[in-house]
Amino acid sequence: MTSADLRSLCAWEPTPLADLGAGQLVAVRVSLPIPEAVLQQLHPAECELVHQRMGADARRWACFVGGRLALRVALRRAAASADALTSPILRLDDGAPGLPGGVAGSISHKRGRAVAVASPHDNVRLGIDLEYIEYVTEEFAARVLTCEEMADVQSLPRDDFSAAVTEIFAVKEAAYKALSVAQRSSLDFSDLRVEGAPFAPARLVRGSFIQIANIPPIKVEIRRNERWVLVVASY
Ligand SMILES: CC(C)(COP(=O)(O)OP(=O)(O)OC[C@H]1O[C@@H](n2cnc3c(N)ncnc32)[C@H](O)[C@@H]1OP(=O)(O)O)[C@@H](O)C(=O)NCCC(=O)NCCS
Repeated sequence: MTSADLRSLCAWEPTPLADLGAGQLVAVRVSLPIPEAVLQQLHPAECELVHQRMGADARRWACFVGGRLALRVALRRAAASADALTSPILRLDDGAPGLPGGVAGSISHKRGRAVAVASPHDNVRLGIDLEYIEYVTEEFAARVLTCEEMADVQSLPRDDFSAAVTEIFAVKEAAYKALSVAQRSSLDFSDLRVEGAPFAPARLVRGSFIQIANIPPIKVEIRRNERWVLVVASY
């Protein structure tokens, strides 16, 4: 990701960012009001959900729309089946996107940007998280980082400290989304351990929590610039 990638997106134009091997990565910038032509691109069941909920929080639902557009383009680029491309992507009870069978994917949004990653295979698990780097408090860092992770970042200059903590937070959020519902029940930030040097483009996440001890290490690919961190987790 270059600094231009997320800044120069045109509104409502899903833009491929990368073929990550684990999946296709697509981003879109959202804006209000949502053009009718954009809503028409949704599956009718998605459109109905947006119309029902839009009044409560228009910005949030614009992000929902952006996520669906990005995910569908990612699925198309991943050569997903016609069935997968024409099925609605609604919401499961836990908030996760209800993907059609045979594919994997994940969505994140932040500050008017929506990103999605998708694979045409369901034997891979994917999670994505997008974060904007801002000042991070010590309390937040202590809540998200393990003691070992804190030791890796606490001597960094203040701006780098905020960026590194945001990055670890994004890694854990992406890993959380990649895990199954059973694996992440009762999961706490301290149950996930991020390995590798701060600001390395690829790191590993291991679970110290008994319920996820049997899964292989989760690979994470990290793209960042001075303001944004985008993480894709897969295993
Ligand atoms: C679920 C969660 C990860 C969503 O993150 P967020 O910062 O609120 O929002 P993001 O923009 O990154 O992601 C939103 C998208 O995530 C997806 N999502 C929501 N819940 C999800 C879940 N349980 N599993 C996978 N994906 C989920 C949805 O696609 C959602 O977008 P949509 O509603 O438009 O479809 C977050 O709310 C959460 O609960 N985090 C876990 C915190 C925690 O307990 N961590 C400890 C271990 S790491």
